[in-house]
Amino acid sequence: MSHRPLLLLSLLVAACSDSARFEPDAARTALIGTQLPRGFLLGTSTSSHQVEGGNTNDWTRWERERFPDGSPHIKDERPSGEAADSWNRFDADVRSMQVLGANAYRFGLEWSRLEPAPGVWNAEAAERYRQWARTLRLQGITPLVTLYHFTLPLWVSDMGGWENPATLEAFEAYAARVAEALGGEVDLWCTVNEPNVYAVQGYLDGIWPPGKKDTKAMAAVLDRLIEAHARAARQLRALDTVDADGDGHATRIGLAHHARLFQAASGSMADTAATALTDAFFNNSVPEALRTGRIRLSVPGSTSIDREVEGLKDSIDYFGLNYYTRDYIRQDLGDAALARQYTPKGKGVNDLGWELYPEGLFLFLQRYATLGVPILITENGMPDRSGERRPRFLQTHLYAVEEALAEGVNVGGYFHWSLIDNFEWAEGYEAKFGLFAVDLDSPDKRRTETPAVSAFQDIARNLGLTPSP
Ligand code: BGC
Repeated sequence: MSHRPLLLLSLLVAACSDSARFEPDAARTALIGTQLPRGFLLGTSTSSHQVEGGNTNDWTRWERERFPDGSPHIKDERPSGEAADSWNRFDADVRSMQVLGANAYRFGLEWSRLEPAPGVWNAEAAERYRQWARTLRLQGITPLVTLYHFTLPLWVSDMGGWENPATLEAFEAYAARVAEALGGEVDLWCTVNEPNVYAVQGYLDGIWPPGKKDTKAMAAVLDRLIEAHARAARQLRALDTVDADGDGHATRIGLAHHARLFQAASGSMADTAATALTDAFFNNSVPEALRTGRIRLSVPGSTSIDREVEGLKDSIDYFGLNYYTRDYIRQDLGDAALARQYTPKGKGVNDLGWELYPEGLFLFLQRYATLGVPILITENGMPDRSGERRPRFLQTHLYAVEEALAEGVNVGGYFHWSLIDNFEWAEGYEAKFGLFAVDLDSPDKRRTETPAVSAFQDIARNLGLTPSP
């Protein structure tokens, strides 16, 4: 007798029960938010270059250029330009946060604005950022401020960016000035956004500036960004001594780490090994460095780094987790990464083809709980042009957060990416991540609610927050 049907059935049941755990029924959905602890930060996230508009940095240069084969760096060939013009429309952004009932907002500082030339400090720009943080606090919205989110001043890029060790000195000096200028209004800091993504996109895949395909440089840059975090943390701790919100801590410092769940395409040794390798490099090397104070990076056949970094251990008060999706991995020895990532047909995906997989968030929360510091989900979201699927995305992912909390994981906040439609790097403006859509062609960059706004409001109310009418 063949056991096949039985096997198929049990696989099917396993698959259903698997996903069902993160698909709450209508009654449980209505309660999402009630299980979040008091003081939980529920907000949204943006970065300077993606929403401010009017910047001049290595990305604005990159946006105008092309790959050697003539194809544009930005898919829709539309440069970041004025973006959502948040530089001039911060009031509209705050208004949107109030509509959501959010009690936190993560925004980025643009290094190129603050220090347009080496050692030249733009006090006016710093003052504007300080006012933003102040305005937020007065509205009961905790600011979480990112120092570095992918973009470099042209002068830093021209000196070789993160490949040049001198960039560390420059970044540390910038961090010191930021601490002095904004420390009175900001306690919660994110030093560096996604060192792993930056290194891979810019130095392995070569699809972001500086467009290199060089595994040695990739590892060197990743190493440097981890040290940059440690140096910035040191400056912030030393120079931001004002406890702006009176909670007994003048600083709470973290970095934002991007994690992607990797699933072996098959049970073969080859796919399993490729998956483990990809996971170790991409998902674990940064958290491990933070845990041990030692950077260990290994790219088989290319390079390996193993060194202790002063001040790295105990440099974080929270761990920032950016989570979006799961990828399947097949070994591919012809590829520089020795693996190919894909999403099998038939999976529920977002507009960029990334699988919608809330369970991955739950699994990473469990995994990184071992770091022993609270976790803030500093990014999670989906590009959804229609806006119709984002409410369920929000619900299932916050449900996964509640499930993790119920298992004892210390999750301190959730920041949805994004408040408003943003410039999505190489994808340009085609990918729509905003809870509020932005009409880029209207003179006032009109913000319009998407259906997920009311889903967010329900969760906020369940947490005890009050969305504005
Ligand atoms: C980045 C954001 C980006 C988002 C969505 C994250 O990797 O930090 O800048 O917009 O993913 O792709």
